[in-house]
Amino acid sequence: MSAAHIVIKGVNKVFHTEGRELVALRDIDLTIPRGQFTCLLGPSGCGKSTLLNAVAGFALPSSGTVHADGALVSGPGPERGMVFQEYALFPWMTVEQNVAFGLEIKGLSKDAIGARVSALLAMLSLSEFRQRFPKDLSGGMRQRVAIARVLALDSPILLMDEPFGALDALTRRNLQDELLRIWAEVKKTILFVTHSIEEAIYLADRIVVMTYRPGTIKRDLLVELPRERDPASPEFNALKRELGQLVMEEQARHHQAETRAAAVD
Ligand SMILES: Nc1ncnc2c1ncn2[C@@H]1O[C@H](COP(=O)(O)OP(=O)(O)OP(=O)(O)O)[C@@H](O)[C@H]1O
Ligand SMILES: [Mg+2]
Repeated sequence: MSAAHIVIKGVNKVFHTEGRELVALRDIDLTIPRGQFTCLLGPSGCGKSTLLNAVAGFALPSSGTVHADGALVSGPGPERGMVFQEYALFPWMTVEQNVAFGLEIKGLSKDAIGARVSALLAMLSLSEFRQRFPKDLSGGMRQRVAIARVLALDSPILLMDEPFGALDALTRRNLQDELLRIWAEVKKTILFVTHSIEEAIYLADRIVVMTYRPGTIKRDLLVELPRERDPASPEFNALKRELGQLVMEEQARHHQAETRAAAVD
């Protein structure tokens, strides 16, 4: 695989709330090659979103650096697109207008925008719904629009924070398959946050398991299973058990920490 696309070096993140110091991330080093599909996996509160936000440039690290596409991250940038769990669409715009929005900002001609929007809507099976408003769409469709909107900007890096977390199992699998198809077609570098072990194994080239507070890297492994992956296969299930064990250890640390905090309060 080709050169490093995202380089995270010595990243720490400390939050100060109500006079307390919370170390959310400690000494994170992670180098992601161009085109790799990486999943960040870990229990709630382990710092997955904090790390993703540091890469997105929404909240910078307390110390350490992130480089994306060779440049130091000091804020959001056009080479990094973000998809959130809650479908961040403009409710007053139609599907088509939502997808076109970023292209208008870029100052593309009307014809160029129209062509690109049509291609993206077709790619995400949304062509029939182009005139609808977000409130008239299902959750899965809204998330397709959110993905189309980010793809419209053609950022080489896609950051996704539990984008399918709120969807039912069937819709989720459909969108996972679509994302894999798109990824194969457009060759983006994807950093995808999930706390679903099965989702991580189904999608990723590489899985980075995080520890519970402070968030550090517990395990960094390549998923060697051939695609398209079969969640019923013995190899899939062996990996699922291995990762399940790692995540459970961290969940247990989470519960212990909560019990201790409750005893102090
Ligand atoms: N802005 C903030 N101010 C204070 N503490 C924060 C802030 N953002 C996150 N935290 C804390 O940092 C830790 C990591 O949070 P983060 O949201 O990154 O976890 P996560 O792994 O994404 O969890 P989840 O799976 O629930 O989304 C948590 O303990 C959280 O409470
Ligand atoms: Mg999160």
